[in-house]
Amino acid sequence: MDKTRKKIQGMFDEIAGRYDFLNHLFTMKMDLRWRREIVKEIEMNNYPKDLIIDLATGTGDLSLELLKLKPEKLFAADISYNMLALQKKKISSEKLVLLQCDSLHLPFADNSIDIITIGFGIRNFEFMEKCLDEINRVLKKNGRLIIIEMFSNNDFKTKLFNFYFGKVMPVVGNLISGSKYAYSYLHKSVANFYSVKDFVNVTEKHNFKIEKVKNNFLGVVNTVYFRKISHH
Ligand SMILES: C[S@@+](CC[C@H](N)C(=O)[O-])C[C@H]1O[C@@H](n2cnc3c(N)ncnc32)[C@H](O)[C@@H]1O
Repeated sequence: MDKTRKKIQGMFDEIAGRYDFLNHLFTMKMDLRWRREIVKEIEMNNYPKDLIIDLATGTGDLSLELLKLKPEKLFAADISYNMLALQKKKISSEKLVLLQCDSLHLPFADNSIDIITIGFGIRNFEFMEKCLDEINRVLKKNGRLIIIEMFSNNDFKTKLFNFYFGKVMPVVGNLISGSKYAYSYLHKSVANFYSVKDFVNVTEKHNFKIEKVKNNFLGVVNTVYFRKISHH
């Protein structure tokens, strides 16, 4: 699949204005609850949370929740200027720092960050494994990497859901967003992505340890909690 920076950045720049609306429509607002649960989990486990990066932050639905943790700073990073511009309009907080950058090169020192979250972003990373090394570099030892994503799943062949996700969503999504391919890409990128089990195996090869997997929806939308175990 074409996941070059130009393609991905262009696609999100193009759909930015309709992104939140379509997310809430397609998930019937369940996505809001899934993001909220990440914050609850961080609180419950008392993870250090002074410095947080929300990577692939987009229009900021996850950063909005993370701000409730009252971190010293929340860095919200994304390649798409238009997505960040909408976040700037949506959220006003002196703790929030917006950054336009690629997840391949994070402008942070080694071992400096407590938590990195990625909401529905990592599936789009062209060089995912290199990004995992970069995330590992900037996280403190025992720092947390928390990923919510749509993973491919064999049971996912449930006819009704496949019809909805493969046939209805691309047509409605492309139509409403005004994009020719963004919502067809969404379906294909999930079908071609790792299963949650394979994703955990790959991530653990980059010096992370899995702590918890939470199945949010049909085994497709999962939240995966990792801890950095050492330097690469
Ligand atoms: C589906 S949106 C998710 C937005 C938000 N995290 C949420 O939960 O709604 C994916 C975001 O990832 C960003 N993105 C994709 N590839 C990226 C990369 N290599 N580096 C940084 N951001 C990236 C896109 O620009 C887009 O805003």
